[in-house]
Amino acid sequence: MAVEGGRLSSGGKYVTVVSLMVVALAYWCRSPAQNARLDERLDNVLSSLLKAERKVDINSVSRPRVAIGFGGCVDIIVDGVALLEKIGLQPNARPLHHDYIQSAEQLAESFAYFFPPGAASERFVLNDTLFNELVEASRGLPDNRWSVGGNAPVMAGRMAMEGCNVLLGGSFNSDLTEVLSQHMTVAGNTVEEPDIHLILEYPAGATWGQYTSRRANRYIVHSDFHNPYLASLEDFERKLQSFQPDLLVVGGLQMMENFPFQQGERAALLGRLAGLLSSASPSTGVHFEMASFVDEGLLGDLLELILPQADSLGMNEQELPNLLSLLRGSAVTVLSDPNPRVATVLDQMRELYRLVNHRHQQSGEGRALTRLHVHTLAFQALAVTHGSRWKNTMSAAAKASLTANRHVCGSADINPGKAKLIMDDSFSVSRQEGSQRIHLRDTRPVSCWDERDYQICVAPVLVCTEVYQTAGGGDNISAAGLVLQI
Ligand SMILES: *[C@@H]1O[C@H](CO)[C@@H](O)[C@H](O)[C@H]1NC(C)=O
Ligand SMILES: *[C@@H]1O[C@H](CO)[C@@H](O)[C@H](O)[C@H]1NC(C)=O
Repeated sequence: MAVEGGRLSSGGKYVTVVSLMVVALAYWCRSPAQNARLDERLDNVLSSLLKAERKVDINSVSRPRVAIGFGGCVDIIVDGVALLEKIGLQPNARPLHHDYIQSAEQLAESFAYFFPPGAASERFVLNDTLFNELVEASRGLPDNRWSVGGNAPVMAGRMAMEGCNVLLGGSFNSDLTEVLSQHMTVAGNTVEEPDIHLILEYPAGATWGQYTSRRANRYIVHSDFHNPYLASLEDFERKLQSFQPDLLVVGGLQMMENFPFQQGERAALLGRLAGLLSSASPSTGVHFEMASFVDEGLLGDLLELILPQADSLGMNEQELPNLLSLLRGSAVTVLSDPNPRVATVLDQMRELYRLVNHRHQQSGEGRALTRLHVHTLAFQALAVTHGSRWKNTMSAAAKASLTANRHVCGSADINPGKAKLIMDDSFSVSRQEGSQRIHLRDTRPVSCWDERDYQICVAPVLVCTEVYQTAGGGDNISAAGLVLQI
């Protein structure tokens, strides 16, 4: 249940407590018949989503060609609270936002900031000693595991799994290259020591001292050395010529955040990337996947150089208001409501679509934005321009939604016993007064309608209740949505 406690006044909190008790009571008093009805509802939504997903076939003969950059790493996945306890970090820290982490105290403060609301975040550690200590401690935790990580490899893996031929731009060592799929070609140099990302996962309701997490999520720390330089860019650019992709995807640029570049180095790299994107053939779609950016300098460069070259954008509920406030000329929003309402997200999407396309018309350069995908815990929302290159929006929304459950539960088969719907039974299409309300229908759970020059589709997510992993979720979901639209 999404209780928006963070934004209520003290009077409101009282109401929330009372309504919580009422809900709890209603839950305990729920009859078996009511439970059966809920189960039936989940089954119906699931089978309808599966039907919607199957409506579209990916051509397995002429596999779609997708080129994805940049970067890659080894993800070490641990229980976040267990790691902090192991290195003796006390939860008595006050919640405080830091753009990057220099000391253990700052790590504790930063974790205390993002953990209670359960907001995804990713921070650069500018202290090798501390980072190495964290890596060593993680290796010593009993339940740690590792996988190939980074936005580009995860999206690439999902695309290959779904039937695409993939060109991946990233620097890997030979061990990592070996675990990549056979339908993947790597462009980039081989490195001896790949970058490591530490993924501090936590489930909903986890506690760290006085703090309790409101939803499952992760806090990521890294100390990348290869990724910030887009080390694979040159080789990627060369191989792209002959690869001729149907779709070109860019992600992982948050690794450039707060990295100690030489003066002008970052802008030069982004300038080269912009050149690569602008020279893509008009028949190639360009998708840019956002991330949790906090560095205004970098965001400004992205806004000027990269965004204008993309037809399609993907992002989560934190990244959407962040980008929007930047476009409006205000400061970045580090933390937003982790469980926003559909109406709020759709209004933000409309405004983003309008602002980005307005800039495009003014400048006359780059590409118009024709696709916007926002992934949230409770639902998937897609806005796609009429008559644009992107097909099958309804099925793509269904597939994105199913992928969210598959990823977080860590299983391709969805078990309704490990899922719940947290989206309301009906939603308003906008916060504007008098807006239309749409009822969620079990047998047609993806709602699509037309507005202005675009179509909007909203699909409920069967939220996984037994979390295996949240990290990489956005990438898996975004990639799954794109696959059906190429
Ligand atoms: C870096 O981390 C180490 C180990 O936690 C610590 O001893 C040192 O003070 C930190 N350096 C700075 C500049 O905070
Ligand atoms: C996300 O996609 C990757 C493919 O790159 C897959 O190997 C992985 O299992 C997916 N994540 C989860 C937890 O399902």
